[in-house]
Amino acid sequence: MKGYHIKGGRVLSGKIETSGAKNAALPILAASVMTKGENTLLSCPQISDVDSMISILTALGCKVRWEDGLLSVVADGIRGCRIPDHMMKEMRSSVFLAGSLLGRCGEAVISNPGGCDIGKRPIDIHIDGLRRLGAHIWQTDENIVLKAGRLRGAKIRLAYPSVGATENLMLAAIAAEGLTEIENSAKEPEIVDLQNYINCCGGRVMGAGSGTITVEGGIKLHGCQYRILPDRIEAGTYLLMALATGGEIMLEGIGREYLDSLLQILDGGGYRIRCSETGIWAKACGFERINCMIRTAPYPGFPTDLQPQMTAFLTKNGKGSIIEENIFEKRLEYAKELKKMGADIEISEKQVIIKDNHILCGVPVAAKDLRGGAALMIAGLMADGYTDIADTKYIKRGYSRPIDKIRALGGEIIEYDC
Ligand code: UD1
Repeated sequence: MKGYHIKGGRVLSGKIETSGAKNAALPILAASVMTKGENTLLSCPQISDVDSMISILTALGCKVRWEDGLLSVVADGIRGCRIPDHMMKEMRSSVFLAGSLLGRCGEAVISNPGGCDIGKRPIDIHIDGLRRLGAHIWQTDENIVLKAGRLRGAKIRLAYPSVGATENLMLAAIAAEGLTEIENSAKEPEIVDLQNYINCCGGRVMGAGSGTITVEGGIKLHGCQYRILPDRIEAGTYLLMALATGGEIMLEGIGREYLDSLLQILDGGGYRIRCSETGIWAKACGFERINCMIRTAPYPGFPTDLQPQMTAFLTKNGKGSIIEENIFEKRLEYAKELKKMGADIEISEKQVIIKDNHILCGVPVAAKDLRGGAALMIAGLMADGYTDIADTKYIKRGYSRPIDKIRALGGEIIEYDC
């Protein structure tokens, strides 16, 4: 097992070139299975979840290769529709292949997907929607088997605007005859990016971002060259990291609209923020104070994927703030580790309350999921002394070259064998 050894107390300042978004790249890679010809993806993040998706695509018969930072995928040679269980368990996004394989091959054999343990992550909304499109789905002892028969467009209203279910249904609907309307669909920017990719491949999808998505089915997709949108969660993480250490940061290639719910809170606390066409600049001057109530919610609400990093940040100067997690039931595990570092916080089932602000102390802590791990990196960089974070594999799921980026900002971090 590997760990990160961090020396706290350095001020982090500089520029960050935002990577392509994990949560856009993974469904786009799943969608590529439905295309004929070459796909060239620009700005695809080099993270372990993308590696896991590449392993699945390769096992299914796709030709995938990295060249000069570009990822090329050719799915012409797909020869299977069964995803091995150990590959399904590597990450949550393996589930998107249900929709795309159903569309491409008329059949998919999957098992329950893995991913970070942040509470129950059912796929009932995915399954209900795929059934509405005409898929026959049943569970065996080991697998979930999906057969298309003939997919037909339908009007589907999601019980909850699930990001994953919206994406899965968009993919299956491409192969369905006629129009599909997905109501109460998720509005995340990554959904818009998936729509843009599909349309770049010749598909006709409209409405992403509005809450109702219309997919014109029965169109064969071709490969295309596509640039993945910037990762708002990565950008938000480095923004909080720099400000937490009293620094100044320029996030290149990302617009205010993607991080508005976070920037409003920082604005309100006195941080200096300027946004332009080239990116977001922010600076801490040392006298900022935040006292806020944060409730995670689907986009454009405060992202659950920035909740742990925000809590770590608020231990410095967010006395009285309350952070409430409303999307996943077990997403406050990291807060117990913050307590070990001396954070004066109260943790209940859904909330963390910042009771007082103290300088954290470096101690050994454990990352148990991706964003919780990122929160511990922020805490370690703010803390007095040395913090050892085990285990780095969660962080590498979603952050591209974190050591290089943190060092480029002036942070002291090394990876070691625990
Ligand atoms: C996606 C993101 C993840 C992010 C999350 C919230 C990807 C690959 N992952 O996850 O990084 O943290 O959105 O922004 O994009 N639910 C059900 N039944 C379902 C599906 C979801 O009850 O069939 C519930 C979940 O348990 C959760 C909520 O709906 O409480 C939101 O889940 P969803 O939006 O689907 O998140 P993911 O797609 O898993």
